[in-house]
Amino acid sequence: MLVIQDLHKQFGSIKAIDGLNLSVTTGEILVLMGPSGCGKSTTIRTINRLIEPDQGNILLHDVNILTLDPDELQKIRKRIGFVFQHFNLIGRLTALENVMFGLVMGGMDRDTAQNKANDAMAKVGLEEHLHHKPNELSGGQQQRVGIARALAYEPELMMWDEPTASLDPILVREVLVVMEELARYRSSTMIVVTHELSFALRVADRIVLMDKGKIVEEGKASGVFVNPASEIGQKYKELIEYQMNTTAQSLSGKTL
Ligand SMILES: Nc1ncnc2c1ncn2[C@@H]1O[C@H](COP(=O)(O)OP(=O)(O)OP(=O)(O)O)[C@@H](O)[C@H]1O
Ligand SMILES: [Mg+2]
Repeated sequence: MLVIQDLHKQFGSIKAIDGLNLSVTTGEILVLMGPSGCGKSTTIRTINRLIEPDQGNILLHDVNILTLDPDELQKIRKRIGFVFQHFNLIGRLTALENVMFGLVMGGMDRDTAQNKANDAMAKVGLEEHLHHKPNELSGGQQQRVGIARALAYEPELMMWDEPTASLDPILVREVLVVMEELARYRSSTMIVVTHELSFALRVADRIVLMDKGKIVEEGKASGVFVNPASEIGQKYKELIEYQMNTTAQSLSGKTL
């Protein structure tokens, strides 16, 4: 459904994306990982042109997003959901109103928008918190409102940019559980940027590793993290082994 060809983006002297090629099939859950600064956010932000790339093609069902005029781009953006690290909720609106906001601004009538927002809030388990303002919600709950806001559009492509990165570890789990649930019963294709190895291992159909603006490895977790070909893949493999050993040693009382 999505094909990215020879994508480049430079900020001053920094090559944030350096000749990236990637295809994503309909319904796939692709997890994009790599060290900080390797170009993950820049890559997914070019897909709906929050960032304009310097060169390349981005085809969504054979339509090149990079050549669309502003009206056409606006239409396509409604088919692409985005969940960010910072939830950016509107403080004076309730959770439900935050979810409805974009739909109503986009021209949907209030009743339909409210129904869609109610459904989306139920999907993230927040049906009891519809009328809470953001400052009356925990960080995890606020992020779930952020997720509901993206879901309400019923997007065909959902992009997630480190949705758990600004949460404390207990709240991380709460959001990961919701993400896993959505992934399991998905109606969207998903591209997830995350540092959460457990999520990648449990949920990804395919893992893509980036380094210095390029894709250096891709495949199933069983390949990428077990027999990595790249330096970054090797580092993730060592990290997983370290985490498994530490957990095993702690449970057997050796390091307690
Ligand atoms: N608006 C910008 N202006 C200048 N440089 C930028 C800009 N956005 C990103 N960069 C640079 O481009 C490179 C890629 O950044 P990007 O945000 O895509 O990395 P990332 O892989 O998402 O990292 P992280 O895991 O820390 O979020 C980095 O070197 C970053 O400093
Ligand atoms: Mg990033």
